[in-house]
Amino acid sequence: MRRRDFVQASLAVAAHTALQAPVAHASPPPRIAYGSAVRGDALVDDFAYRTALVDHCQLVVPEGGLKWEAVRPSEDRFDFYEGDKLLAFADQNGLKMRGHTLIWYAAMPEWTSSIRGGKAAEKALSKHVRTVVGKYKGRIPSWDVINEAIAEDPRGSDYLRPNLWLENMGKGYIETAFRRAQEADPKVQLVINEYDIECVGEQFTNRRNALLRVVRDLRDRDAPIHAVGFQGHLKGQYEIDKEGVSSFVAELKAMDVDVLVTELDVIDNLLPADEKQRDEVIAGRASDLLQAILDANRPTAILTWGITDRYTWVPMWFTRDDGSPNRPLPLDRDYKAKPLMDVIGRFVSRA
Ligand code: G3I
Repeated sequence: MRRRDFVQASLAVAAHTALQAPVAHASPPPRIAYGSAVRGDALVDDFAYRTALVDHCQLVVPEGGLKWEAVRPSEDRFDFYEGDKLLAFADQNGLKMRGHTLIWYAAMPEWTSSIRGGKAAEKALSKHVRTVVGKYKGRIPSWDVINEAIAEDPRGSDYLRPNLWLENMGKGYIETAFRRAQEADPKVQLVINEYDIECVGEQFTNRRNALLRVVRDLRDRDAPIHAVGFQGHLKGQYEIDKEGVSSFVAELKAMDVDVLVTELDVIDNLLPADEKQRDEVIAGRASDLLQAILDANRPTAILTWGITDRYTWVPMWFTRDDGSPNRPLPLDRDYKAKPLMDVIGRFVSRA
């Protein structure tokens, strides 16, 4: 029975027999939550999109609604319209919501380019983190505190990505962000989120090692970091470094740091044109990543960066030479499940 039918049936039974024992759950919730990033406009305009989210997800995250460009129209204003809208949808449908992202180099409003000097940067960073995490205290149980802190191709001492925060505060901006977030909500899972740490290749290995260096430094300073987010934007032409990912996750576990998959999709611009073949490669890459993680620790959640090929960021940067649409997500453009959804279902229920 689809979740939505079960929910409607339960509500009907509950309404009819309100005084009797509560309706038993048809099946216990899965041990690993599956979720998806959500577009605020499609959530309002597209009933099939809303239905797919309710049918398949236990968790949602705003694709853009809680980034600085959405939340901070000016230095002295906060706009939580998009965050509140998704949280209301989550509440109405028994879903949890995670937050993305507090500190990043991108999606920053123009006025932030005038932030100059350590004091001003720390003031801006602290005000943002305290206000946003505080606003959703007890409502958002997990936040991407730092997004993409690692240099594109880390070498030696240049292992952090230059950004507004690093330039003005030094590498301490990372610890400050985690500490402000914990002060604002002591119960929230605090995550450092990164991409291109999944595959075989020197740059991927260097990025994993650089991220380990950041996490180790934070743990040595007793900073409140709880998990690493594998974004999981997998380039389909690259193999998953199963060994490398498993030992990376094991090292994190040894530091009492969990993992989750935050933005899974498979970039297929260089994969075969045949859709059946392409979908199989896509499912295989995701399965290899999830298995490599699970071999070392159970991820606390698995999220895809969207649920349907109808709404995906991938063609913004990775269009196919043959002009055929990308197929990075678990459901196709008509909300039909693909092998990637079966893979996710296997990992969500099995762990
Ligand atoms: O909403 C406006 C629209 O009104 C306007 O007409 C249009 C034309 O410029 O822009 C629209 O906003 C775009 C927004 O996505 C909503 O679709 C922004 O320009 C565009 O920059 C923004 O891109 C997002 C990107 O992050 C930057 O914030 C992508 O959707 C989103 O998928 C992507 O997500 C990131 C994660 O946050 C971090 N990890 C990588 C991932 C993929 O890049």
